[in-house]
Amino acid sequence: MTRIFVLTNHKGGVGKSTSATTIAFGITSLLRHTGATHGRVLLIDTDSQGHATLVTTGRNDFGAENSLYAVLSAERATAAQTLAQCIVPSTWDEHLHVLPASAMLEGAERELMRVAGAPYRLADPLSKIAAHYAAIVIDTRPSFSLMTEMGLIAATDAIVPVEPRYLETVGLMSVISKINDIREGWRHPHLRISGILVTKMDSRIRGHHHLLNELKTHPVLGKLLIGVIPANEAVSYAHHSHQSLFSYDPKAPASKAYAQLVSMLVRQMTKGGA
Ligand SMILES: Nc1ncnc2c1ncn2[C@@H]1O[C@H](COP(=O)(O)OP(=O)(O)OP(=O)(O)O)[C@@H](O)[C@H]1O
Ligand SMILES: [Mg+2]
Repeated sequence: MTRIFVLTNHKGGVGKSTSATTIAFGITSLLRHTGATHGRVLLIDTDSQGHATLVTTGRNDFGAENSLYAVLSAERATAAQTLAQCIVPSTWDEHLHVLPASAMLEGAERELMRVAGAPYRLADPLSKIAAHYAAIVIDTRPSFSLMTEMGLIAATDAIVPVEPRYLETVGLMSVISKINDIREGWRHPHLRISGILVTKMDSRIRGHHHLLNELKTHPVLGKLLIGVIPANEAVSYAHHSHQSLFSYDPKAPASKAYAQLVSMLVRQMTKGGA
């Protein structure tokens, strides 16, 4: 089964889009490097802000006919075909494909609110094309909205990026319990919490160390820590030039930390286990 990673946290600006795009590109590059025959990766942008779309395709002009919006509005019988037609290659790598977001997704949430089966409108067509990809990565918007729910229902693995200043366990536990609700309430047994990814860690800030240590020793959350990404200005420079962090500066501290995370995810994928 293709692993479908969803990056989620209702807090804004914690590194969801940075992590989604970097992980997606990282998996593509690593699979190519290891000579995998089946090495394509799909990035799905469910956020109407379209940041992940913009940096990976150089475009932010996707609309009703050629974006995720088209998939969500399609008839059930044709939704998978619509999805396949909307996918574009990333400018970063021909093996990285993108299902773009559109500003129209903002209205789609309202339009779909009363439509039967709305939360499955991504999961359903995606399940029909997932086998074409070695991995799929979904970026979500900063809220527990219908769109985020759709992303979680479509996924197999949730990764929760969080900044050290938001590491308070109460906030984190609410994200974790939302993911558990989706698994149990929506009967989606394949969704598991892959882990918590600490982003923008500034080792000069004492409070960051304190909160990270608290997380490490927490009986539930401590076991979920899968990586710590340092705060690194290479990330914003890479964004501004619409380049992947790995291409912009593979030796930057954030690149090295993401590379470690990507190797771990690919090891898990190829083992097919935890
Ligand atoms: N490791 C890092 N070091 C420095 N800056 C970072 C790092 N990770 C992300 N940023 C910066 O933080 C900002 C927010 O990152 P990003 O857009 O990935 O967060 P997000 O969670 O997707 O935000 P939103 O909730 O608005 O979708 C961006 O300007 C990005 O360049
Ligand atoms: Mg984002």
